[in-house]
Amino acid sequence: MKKLRVSNQRVDDELLMRKRREELNKWPTGKEVDFDEAVAYQKSLPDSKIWWKVMVKLREEGRMSVFPRAGTPVLEKMIELCQGLRDSGVVLIPVTTDSYTRLGQYEKVEGILQECNRTGQALLNGYPIINQGVKKTRKLVESVDAAFSPRGAGGEIAIASGLTTFGGGMGFLGFGSYSKNMTVRELAERSQNGQRIVGWYADRGVILCTDLHGWLPSAPFPLSVNIVCLIIEAVTAAEQGQKALYPIVHCMGNMVQDMAWIKLAPRLIREYLDKFGYKDCMITGTCPAQTPLFPVAMDLGGAFAYLNYISMVGALSKSNAVDLRSIDEGAGVPTKDTNSVSYRSAKWIFDVVREQQIEIDVKGVDTEEKVTEIEVRAILDKILELGDGDIVDGAIKAVESGVLDSPWSPNVNVKDKVLGVRDAHGACRYLEFGNLPFPEDIKEFHREKIAEREKLEGKKADYHTAVRDLWSLSKGKIVGIPPYNQ
Ligand code: 5AD
Repeated sequence: MKKLRVSNQRVDDELLMRKRREELNKWPTGKEVDFDEAVAYQKSLPDSKIWWKVMVKLREEGRMSVFPRAGTPVLEKMIELCQGLRDSGVVLIPVTTDSYTRLGQYEKVEGILQECNRTGQALLNGYPIINQGVKKTRKLVESVDAAFSPRGAGGEIAIASGLTTFGGGMGFLGFGSYSKNMTVRELAERSQNGQRIVGWYADRGVILCTDLHGWLPSAPFPLSVNIVCLIIEAVTAAEQGQKALYPIVHCMGNMVQDMAWIKLAPRLIREYLDKFGYKDCMITGTCPAQTPLFPVAMDLGGAFAYLNYISMVGALSKSNAVDLRSIDEGAGVPTKDTNSVSYRSAKWIFDVVREQQIEIDVKGVDTEEKVTEIEVRAILDKILELGDGDIVDGAIKAVESGVLDSPWSPNVNVKDKVLGVRDAHGACRYLEFGNLPFPEDIKEFHREKIAEREKLEGKKADYHTAVRDLWSLSKGKIVGIPPYNQ
């Protein structure tokens, strides 16, 4: 096999600076960004506002924080919202942007934002960071003692405002979950063109952290494909100059698997970062996540239980962060109060359970870790073979041929030949392997596990079983899920 590498069209400095300005010129607040002054501002921030430092400190102290989602349009209300989060123990605070901002519809945002400011109402579903601009957003950052991360949009305005994370790498989230028509080639081009911004800041001593999502399993589905994508995202981000990153590990509700994947993901990411020569890129922690992309509990009891389950998994796996959603997730945009009560509940688990530093040995974790590891390596080997050592080229060909595949994606360019169902203990198994290049004994392992459930239910697992399983966590039932349409 040829030397391992990441194909990347390096953008020269002059072109990079021109592109950055072009992007900022799309809205008047772009004029508030002076690149050198932004570097100086970032350097003036206290450690408590620097994402990677906050995560590392939490890890060193054996503590953890929720990484929630939150955003509201009016600045004063956004400050109150974030202070509410801080009071609930959250030190990793998101600036979730509204849908129009994510789509670049700043004109439209402006009209609505003026109405919001006049009436005090939240008529946008997030904080419009571009229209608010640098001066106002700095006010937010300076009002709350925590680290901030833009969600969905933000770019240079976010960095200049003192937010300390920035996306990078080949992000499968946008391709697999948020897009209908994007091709994987477009994803690769987009993530490579002009993405030297993190590197530009790193060269000047400003380290912006990034969270890796991987290809989101929008249903109960083994995490192997997701972990492969976490690795691709990590090495492509590192190639662009990213020096700090961490995986978000999507929990599926079977604690044995969730614990196994939380151990496995950072271990393999580290191994591949090193293999590709990015030894200086640090992993700041691990963030188990409450995956929001399938139905969540709509009753209050279930909503609390779900976020507390993830908190418990995070506490027992000694993670330093958990990605949670509020109890309102099944209903709409949360209020300041429902955000606060949700994360205070998680904090209870952190303060009571995480503090105990419990050494827990969950039976079966080793097997699940081994099985997923074999699957991840099988897919990655095939990707590197397809790309002749080039991970980006290989990933493109892998998605196009279904070697990398995931079910239930809204994107029409996904093969979608794979399917997952739960087994008799609620663990996620492959019902359809599609073109995933797994060894025969691994396939047999999944088939046997599914057969146990079939015996229990007295019927063959099929597509309808997979549909029923979509509702498991919503219904608060991991085994024996009742038909949702009865
Ligand atoms: N407040 C809280 N959470 C939000 N999300 C999006 N916008 C907001 C907001 N304003 C979260 C939800 C959604 C995911 C994409 O992001 O959890 O499912």
